[in-house]
Amino acid sequence: MIKVLFVCLGNICRSPSAEGVFRKLVEDQGLHDVIEIDSAGTHAYHVGSPPDTRAQEAASRRGIDMSDLVGRRVDHGDFYIFDYVLAMDESNIYHLQEMAPVEEVHKIKLFLDFAPQRSEREVPDPYYGGHSGFEHVLDLIEEASEGLLADIKTRL
Ligand code: 4NP
Repeated sequence: MIKVLFVCLGNICRSPSAEGVFRKLVEDQGLHDVIEIDSAGTHAYHVGSPPDTRAQEAASRRGIDMSDLVGRRVDHGDFYIFDYVLAMDESNIYHLQEMAPVEEVHKIKLFLDFAPQRSEREVPDPYYGGHSGFEHVLDLIEEASEGLLADIKTRL
């Protein structure tokens, strides 16, 4: 079993979107029995909340349902459980590195490391922006999800 944790600040926009997109990709390829997927936030503002309505609407236009997801905060134990801890931006990386046991720090990576063809290195925070921000987030996530799955397949 390979375990993937997507991380952003609030766990209501970017990381649940990544969880939803990657979950669909994994299910479509029949790999849901070997890849476990979750998401969490570095901060606790939205613990217990569903994904942002704008994020859910944008995802649903691409056939992705994430209405079952619930916000939670990253936990110390996550660094032992997950094989990949994938941050949306450098600020998330900073907070994760502060929390992680030193022997697990190597698991923390930028999600867009798996989309090297893109010039962007971070998935930008769409929370205070307009709807187009959510579309851009999904474009980036879809590309990185393909790269991530290819990387995981080399380990299966
Ligand atoms: P996310 O977006 O990190 O992609 O879930 C945000 C959600 C909430 C806030 C910031 C970013 N906030 O400040 O409440």
